[in-house]
Amino acid sequence: MWDFFETVRHRHSIRRYQSDLPVEEEKLNAILEMACAAPSAGDLQAYHVSVVRGRKLRRELAQAASRQQFVAEAPVVLVFSADPVRSATRFGERGANIYALQDATIAAAYAQLAVVATGLASTWVGDFDEQRVKELLELDADLVPVSLLSIGYPAETGELSPRRHLDEMVSWR
Ligand SMILES: Cc1cc2nc3c(=O)[nH]c(=O)nc-3n(C[C@H](O)[C@H](O)[C@H](O)COP(=O)(O)O)c2cc1C
Repeated sequence: MWDFFETVRHRHSIRRYQSDLPVEEEKLNAILEMACAAPSAGDLQAYHVSVVRGRKLRRELAQAASRQQFVAEAPVVLVFSADPVRSATRFGERGANIYALQDATIAAAYAQLAVVATGLASTWVGDFDEQRVKELLELDADLVPVSLLSIGYPAETGELSPRRHLDEMVSWR
């Protein structure tokens, strides 16, 4: 098992998967548990996770995601949706507009790191038709899908892409 720094450094997007190699249930549960371990505003966990494994639904999701075929090829797709109404019960507009999105996003980020730690690979997909994804997943009207994570065993090595230099993005005061 890698330590935290190795896990973060090793994570990179993978867009080709061994489609016929299923993701073990225990790994999937471990990933979902790590998502739930993420911080959330007021500890409300104002998000919902849809686990998609059916081939037909994955194909439809890929279509809804600007025809990004790797979404269909990944044996599992996790869809993270914000729950603005849940956050608004305590935090009003700020909860609905900001916290719920942050809750869902942080949970997805934790899941993406857990994916690496379990020897799997993923890509974060943000380019999708929100309304179509809601229909496909039969999501409650209040939920807002914010991120799709395609997950599976990699069929490519991919590469670590360079980052902006810290000096460019960090200011010290
Ligand atoms: C908000 C967000 C939206 C993204 N949407 C897509 C997408 O629709 N399709 C895709 O192939 N990759 C998508 N990505 C993955 C990025 O392209 C990728 O993380 C970035 O190029 C850095 O590469 P790395 O993940 O290998 O470090 C998205 C990432 C984020 C954080």
